Amino acid sequence: MSRRNKIYEGKAKILYEGPEPGTIIQYFKDDATAFNNQKKGTLSGKGVVNNHISEYIFAALGNIGIPTHFVRRMSMREQLVKAVEIIPVEVIVRNVAAGGLSKRLGIEEGTPLPRPLVEFCFKSDELGDPLIAEEHVLTFGWASEDELDDITHYALRVNDFMSGLFAGIGIRLIDFKLEFGRLYEGEEVMTVLADEISPDGCRLWDMKTGEKLDKDRFRRDLGGEMEAYMEVARRLGILPSADITELAEHQQKKEG
Ligand code: CDP
Repeated sequence: MSRRNKIYEGKAKILYEGPEPGTIIQYFKDDATAFNNQKKGTLSGKGVVNNHISEYIFAALGNIGIPTHFVRRMSMREQLVKAVEIIPVEVIVRNVAAGGLSKRLGIEEGTPLPRPLVEFCFKSDELGDPLIAEEHVLTFGWASEDELDDITHYALRVNDFMSGLFAGIGIRLIDFKLEFGRLYEGEEVMTVLADEISPDGCRLWDMKTGEKLDKDRFRRDLGGEMEAYMEVARRLGILPSADITELAEHQQKKEG
């Protein structure tokens, strides 16, 4: 690890220079943050689980023709991705009212939306990722009109795919956050899905019990974060069960 050149360290991941030009290694940490970094913690094993969940979803999205930065998983906590220029807009897709939307508009959490809602936030920790309109994106040149079209189109396709994927394992996809980047290949620039998709950036509710299987367990001090993340991985059929047991034991020891 130490031989690698660190490019950037974020809240949940570290980016290192990849083995070839144009590649980057994403290293998934166990750090958890919420409320724009005001709440911090460590969830032992989270990085391992999120690396595997994100690998599974990005590979599946690639298979249905959605361009992504993902190349392959390299180890328990690392994946190789293509270097992209991140578009500074967080894209949130919602199927059911929760979190920020419920607060902002006074809609009870759990109210189904009549159609998927795509929202944009300006990616800025300093400003707390404020909600913006498409007009802001275009006015300030954060993305072009074509890129915004791509982003909205891909975001809705990701939502269709993930809603079905999770429904198949008894989980309701409430909402999630995506990030996109520009991939430069010769003369061409492509809009591709980047970052990660994991329970850190999704709301996932068990269909039968309504139990939260996502970062709200951490945000709202509900406990059992790792058990919930591992349950998502287990239902997706990923992570060898030995790893899950090991992670669970590790977590229990820490708590006990
Ligand atoms: O987190 P909060 O409730 O304030 O924000 P939200 O707008 O309701 O979040 C919608 C979805 O996007 C949730 O699944 C969040 O986990 C995710 N999100 C994220 O991953 N990163 C952010 N900076 C903001 C939202």
